[in-house]
Amino acid sequence: MPKDWDAHYLSQPPHSQPAQVVAAYTHQLPAGPVLDLAGGLGRNAFFLARRGHPVILLEQSRVALEFVQREALHQQLPVWALEADLEAPSPSLPPGPLAGIVKSYFLHRPLLGMFVERLMPGGLVLLEGFTVVEARRRGSQAAHYWQPGELLHPPQGLHLRAWAEGWMEGHHRTWAVWQKPS
Ligand SMILES: C[S@@+](CC[C@H](N)C(=O)[O-])C[C@H]1O[C@@H](n2cnc3c(N)ncnc32)[C@H](O)[C@@H]1O
Repeated sequence: MPKDWDAHYLSQPPHSQPAQVVAAYTHQLPAGPVLDLAGGLGRNAFFLARRGHPVILLEQSRVALEFVQREALHQQLPVWALEADLEAPSPSLPPGPLAGIVKSYFLHRPLLGMFVERLMPGGLVLLEGFTVVEARRRGSQAAHYWQPGELLHPPQGLHLRAWAEGWMEGHHRTWAVWQKPS
């Protein structure tokens, strides 16, 4: 059964820290807007916006969307939270050109092929998530987790800039930075 993210967000305090790859590589993004896919409560979006990037956050959870919209207004940060089902057959993504695309702890492989045409030259894709090793540890479905080494292979038109995989803060994770050549 899919997770009830509204219920989850109503019962958990928001994370204040961004994903590791976002913390480490935001400074290498070109100037310009960033798309945060399935951005949840906006930990990555607010980090990026505080560093000068307008952010479009797409998300399905109404609870998350309302939280992000409220915080953006309150903190006067350029974050726009919009409702989207990213697993729909043809999800509508902003056309760009984008300085970056963030995909953090949300895996839907058909989206990967939609990135290159939306990025500006030099733009980055920042990806992070759990691996199938973590899925086994949790007894979860492997389909929603990255395969070993999967992020080493960007889609056509993007180059691998950085990659890591292994036990990080008690969980088996992977992250990567892909770049559209300048
Ligand atoms: C593990 S959370 C990650 C949130 C955020 N990216 C982060 O790193 O903090 C997964 C998110 O994916 C969202 N999500 C799941 N399925 C989705 C879909 N089909 N379309 C849009 N968002 C979805 C959930 O609502 C949830 O906020």
